[in-house]
Amino acid sequence: MTLRNHMKSPIGSTFALAALTTLTLAATASAAPGSITQKPFGTAPSGQAVSLYTLTNSHGMVVKITNYGGIVTSILVPDRRGKLDDVVLGYDNVAGYIKGSPYFGALVGRYANRIAKGKFTLNNKTYTLAVNNGVNHLHGGKIGFDKKVWAASPVRIPNGAGLSLTLYSPDMEEGYPGNLAVHVVYSLTDDNALKIAYTATTDKPTVLNLTNHSYFNLNGAGSGTILDHTLMINANRYTPIDKTSIPFGLLAPVAGTPFDFRRPHVIGERINAANLQIKNGAGYDHNFVLNHRGSSLIVAARAYSPKTGRVLTVSTTEPGVQLYTGNFLDGTNVGKGGKVYNRRNAFCLETQHFPDSPNQKAFPTTTLRPGQVYRQTTIDKFSTR
Ligand code: BGC
Repeated sequence: MTLRNHMKSPIGSTFALAALTTLTLAATASAAPGSITQKPFGTAPSGQAVSLYTLTNSHGMVVKITNYGGIVTSILVPDRRGKLDDVVLGYDNVAGYIKGSPYFGALVGRYANRIAKGKFTLNNKTYTLAVNNGVNHLHGGKIGFDKKVWAASPVRIPNGAGLSLTLYSPDMEEGYPGNLAVHVVYSLTDDNALKIAYTATTDKPTVLNLTNHSYFNLNGAGSGTILDHTLMINANRYTPIDKTSIPFGLLAPVAGTPFDFRRPHVIGERINAANLQIKNGAGYDHNFVLNHRGSSLIVAARAYSPKTGRVLTVSTTEPGVQLYTGNFLDGTNVGKGGKVYNRRNAFCLETQHFPDSPNQKAFPTTTLRPGQVYRQTTIDKFSTR
């Protein structure tokens, strides 16, 4: 199938898709380096057929992405001996994601993480959102971006492969104001990195906080615990939360707490510490304030599996990262190849603005206004040692 890109956003502005050219999509799943292939992945609840795109780079790294939810379903990377393994949790087909997924690999929006009591005020108007997580709003509501069918087209990347995804979210969808046009480009580059570049525009003031919700296990998805991994997080401060996981609004020092990952620590070392914040999160489920000096890309976190030698380095332009250690996985999610995902069998590093920012004056703003372009870039780079 040959795809020619001439995308226009539904609210009028042409997306800057300079890198997009005419590309040929092979109809088979066999993947040559620097290629992208497409195959059917099932049907969305809307009746739309969805696809699975396989991106391959010249080192044999493979990333699979579906345009249902913009979900990264699979990341195959070598261990220190060169053995490829899939390091993200997910399902074999779209039916699995529809049946019930704790946002495995998904693009999350309009607002990643929580908004207290599902309410916020913008320009003197109060907006009411779905309360879908205890007393709070979580990850965009009932039908967030993770459950939408995105328009997909391939992007040319030297020795790698890319996929462009676009979504139009109408005014007041899930209670959020503004017609919003969202564009995400996934690029698998030749240095074994998955780059995620987001842009968005609106025609009314709104709030926006986008992320990718991949669940990583560097020993291989479904191979058991991640408590043996080491983790570094480039953050002097974090945002402590109440019992409902809403930040109090203060930026607290990590020094002397189980949240100090400035030097690498084994994830399991302090995860059961007698600490109120650990209790409130049922483990790690907290936003870290990254040590940014500006808005450029910085290393946010680095995870390492001593068993396989795999290293994941996450860089981002975002001010925060949510460390979530799969505390609510309970074995009810049976994933790819029939593997069961139990508690703390994966960790997430969700690059983001801070939770509940629309209600927290001291946090960096998440307001997006007409004429502004929302931008965020995150890179998940894999290596071994
Ligand atoms: C949240 C967790 C939640 C998980 C899956 C994370 O971003 O902070 O509390 O369980 O996503 O929804």
